[in-house]
Amino acid sequence: MSDFHYQNGQLMAEQSSLTEIAKAAGTPTYVYSKKSLEQNYLAYRDALDIDSNTNHLVCFSVKANSNIGVLSVLAKLGSGFDIVSAGELERVLLAGGDPAKIVFSGIAKSTSEIQRALEVGVHCFNVESVTELDRIAEVSSNMGCTAPISIRVNPDVDAKTHPYISTGLKENKFGIDIEQALQVYQYASTLNSLRIVGIDCHIGSQLTTLTPFNDSLTRLLRLVDQLEKIGISLQHIDVGGGLGVCYQNEQPPSPQEYVASLIEAMKGRTQSLIMEPGRSIAANAGVLITRVDTIKENPHKRFAIIDAAMNDMIRPALYDAWLNILPVVQAPQGPLKNYDVVGPVCETGDFMGKDRELAIAEGDLLCVCSAGAYGFVMSSNYNSRVRASEIIVDGDKFHFVRDRETMEDLVRGERTID
Ligand code: LLP
Repeated sequence: MSDFHYQNGQLMAEQSSLTEIAKAAGTPTYVYSKKSLEQNYLAYRDALDIDSNTNHLVCFSVKANSNIGVLSVLAKLGSGFDIVSAGELERVLLAGGDPAKIVFSGIAKSTSEIQRALEVGVHCFNVESVTELDRIAEVSSNMGCTAPISIRVNPDVDAKTHPYISTGLKENKFGIDIEQALQVYQYASTLNSLRIVGIDCHIGSQLTTLTPFNDSLTRLLRLVDQLEKIGISLQHIDVGGGLGVCYQNEQPPSPQEYVASLIEAMKGRTQSLIMEPGRSIAANAGVLITRVDTIKENPHKRFAIIDAAMNDMIRPALYDAWLNILPVVQAPQGPLKNYDVVGPVCETGDFMGKDRELAIAEGDLLCVCSAGAYGFVMSSNYNSRVRASEIIVDGDKFHFVRDRETMEDLVRGERTID
């Protein structure tokens, strides 16, 4: 939250007051700090640059925050991108991202997605099944080119995170079982329109210790050595994303610590490293500003009903995620009371935070912290609510990078019948 701080009792994003931003943009609105985004990306890049012998690549995972304004901030620094759909690909291109620095992940890419990615020349496809391997081979052969591929291996490692965001266990749908991977590489090497360039894995998200990452890399490197023995040499090792952030009191390793452990494990190897961080770049670079609409008490509970709901930020409802909620203006003498901070959507699961001590009144602004990753991107129009606006703060200036949706946007493409 370093670029979000109080100054004279007012919560600021860099040098911009969130009260002023709410006045200009209305609520709810997402606010991102350009400086935080840059610093969080550079933490990875600079740590990787310490190993100056090899060209490593940080590919921001677009699923965490796909606003083209946000992507353009990272593209200007030379960031690569990890994408999972044709839509994310077009966003990266619109943001000025370099296609040669894109890794195309995702569990089942369609023929048209593969075509488009080959047309623009992505760095590689992270392949998740033999069916997909065949599909990529066929499309590239039809197009008269070769497709760079990397196999996403499932290393069977427990990421010890929320079950919905664990991906590296053998019962998960992701990747190719590490026991079968050698065979799949051998098969891939027989397909002329494919060029094997790397190996990939991603074991889960919001990891707060390095042990699962280390275990997974050890397994991958064992496979890399076996491949080398049969004449398949790789140019890169993609370790995926997954480094956690502090939402409440978690103490995840820093990107520097994580990268140092990777470089240590890679000593003496020629392959470059690719990383796909999402959350650790964007989460704490963004907040969601919302207004208290109604305060409602019953004999058991006190509710603060805010104008942001689960359609704007679904993480509390979906993963029981804890997000800090701060007043935008500190009320020095107001009595703290206990609230469940909830949205106006017709679901009991529509809460932003439970049992929060706040000194608030109707009309006050609240700031939902750590909302820059998996926030707006997971929003929806549920209850026919328009989606929020998005803003990037740059010092004392702020830019609207997405307008709040309108009622016309809400029904675009729909029609009545006679
Ligand atoms: N690479 C791949 C292949 C992924 O599937 C993911 C995230 C990442 C990279 C980026 O991981 P990160 O560095 O952000 O942990 N909606 C959930 C998180 C889902 C993560 C899905 N995959 C949440 O809000 O917690």
